[in-house]
Amino acid sequence: KILVLDFGGQTCQLIARRIREIGVYSEVVPGDTPVESLPLEGVKGIILSGSPYSVYDAEAPKVDPRVSSLGIPILGICYGVQQLAHLFGGKVAPLDHREYGRSRLFFTEASPLFEGVPEGFVSWMSHGDTIVEVPEGFRVIARSEHNLVAGITHERLPLYGIQFHPEVTHCAYGLTVLENFAVRICGARKTWTMASYLEDVQGLLRTQVGDDPLLLLISGGVDSTVVAALLLKTFPPEQVHLLYIDTGLMRKNETEEVEANLRTLGASNLYIVHAEERFLSALKGVVDPEKKRQIIGDVFIQVQEEELRRRRIPDQAFLAQGTLYTDLIESGKGVGNKAKVIKSHHNVRSPLIERKRKEGRVIEPLSMLYKDEVRRLGAHLGVPREVLERHPFPGPGLAVRILGEVTREKCDILREADAIFIDELKRRHLYHEIWQAFCVLLPVRTVGVTGDDRNYGYVVALRAVTSKDGMTADAYPFPTADLLEIAALITNRVKDVGRVVYDVSSKPPATIEWE
Ligand code: XMP
Repeated sequence: KILVLDFGGQTCQLIARRIREIGVYSEVVPGDTPVESLPLEGVKGIILSGSPYSVYDAEAPKVDPRVSSLGIPILGICYGVQQLAHLFGGKVAPLDHREYGRSRLFFTEASPLFEGVPEGFVSWMSHGDTIVEVPEGFRVIARSEHNLVAGITHERLPLYGIQFHPEVTHCAYGLTVLENFAVRICGARKTWTMASYLEDVQGLLRTQVGDDPLLLLISGGVDSTVVAALLLKTFPPEQVHLLYIDTGLMRKNETEEVEANLRTLGASNLYIVHAEERFLSALKGVVDPEKKRQIIGDVFIQVQEEELRRRRIPDQAFLAQGTLYTDLIESGKGVGNKAKVIKSHHNVRSPLIERKRKEGRVIEPLSMLYKDEVRRLGAHLGVPREVLERHPFPGPGLAVRILGEVTREKCDILREADAIFIDELKRRHLYHEIWQAFCVLLPVRTVGVTGDDRNYGYVVALRAVTSKDGMTADAYPFPTADLLEIAALITNRVKDVGRVVYDVSSKPPATIEWE
């Protein structure tokens, strides 16, 4: 395997993920781990990641100098190469202007790192410091179009460094460079597949958990379902306790589908809690969106605690979570902890999770994976395709899609309209082109006519966006005919809806949800 030492760079996990894409197993550990604590078994190569720090910052995380004399090939990327230079007595200095974005690279001598890469290829740079003096024993192998040092290698030792970022998609031949390092230079074999990952994770889980019970909170989304499938494949089903809380704010037939899917995956201790009354009565009369979120979070925690006692889940149970690498980054808990907090999931501050964390009894078997890797793992574990490819759904559910007060009647209306919208998208083969789609129920009624009667119906807004990660989004450019036909179906079939509008706003300045 290839070990990536993390110095807080944004793209650190991406490096590991690219290496895995090549077919070589790779994992990330904190960059300043002392040599004796590094998981070195089977390690063929080490990559030093980038970092927001400068090597001269007092608090900058540093690699243990002994790493360079292990005899294992090392590739320093960006800050990583600067650390190598610094460590061996070279000189790093700040640039007047950052070198940022695309930059052509020119080779100053042949290197196995650039095998199969053409001279003048367009690399991706992002650095404020540069190597101004190459340490003794090292030679420059490439320069950028601004004549800065872009690659170095040691004359005798298997030490390599590059200033550019081969892991980002904008970097031409990035995968070739990484493969040259991992396979050509380190001699790692390309045997990593989802099947071998599954075996590794299962081994680790069995060692860590043993015969202790496991508890998993199910949301019905991709991540918790894949973790459920993983646990049920790894442990006897009786050992795995699955808790799902129906808040009454779920989509049409959602609870039934979640239950059926988990049963198919082999669940036996599955607790479906119907807590609709609790949530709806707590939300009565509440119109402020943040207040709604908070109430839902609080009731969720109360119900959760009550159920744990009622179901007699043993105290020593491990809590499994479907946290992905991007969730850690988004809540500012990534290894480097440099990325800022983007959204707070309502389960992050749950006392159950805090308790289990303190006890060291939380397992997060997906925390190294990206969403598409989770989908592949899920497919491998037999999770149905509809679950794996489902659009994201917010924790507070329909409550943030019913503007103003939430009532059961409004939930029912919204559920019907939303089900028609989503079914039509699937029927028209548009569902997979859209990142997230749903209906919003507005708190106004407008005049309409049915037959000879004037009546007042609700307004439903359709929302459909394209996006990569939910951070920015664009309204989906529907063919007009699809919009008109879907709107007509909704007003025909859902009695209380009198009017349908389409939200054409992008994010920013709007958000994806309306509340
Ligand atoms: P916004 O509306 O902020 O949504 O553009 C971005 C993504 O986050 C989801 N979202 C939430 N998810 N709890 C969640 O678990 C929430 O309170 C919440 N608010 C928004 C939203 O559905 C979209 O995918």
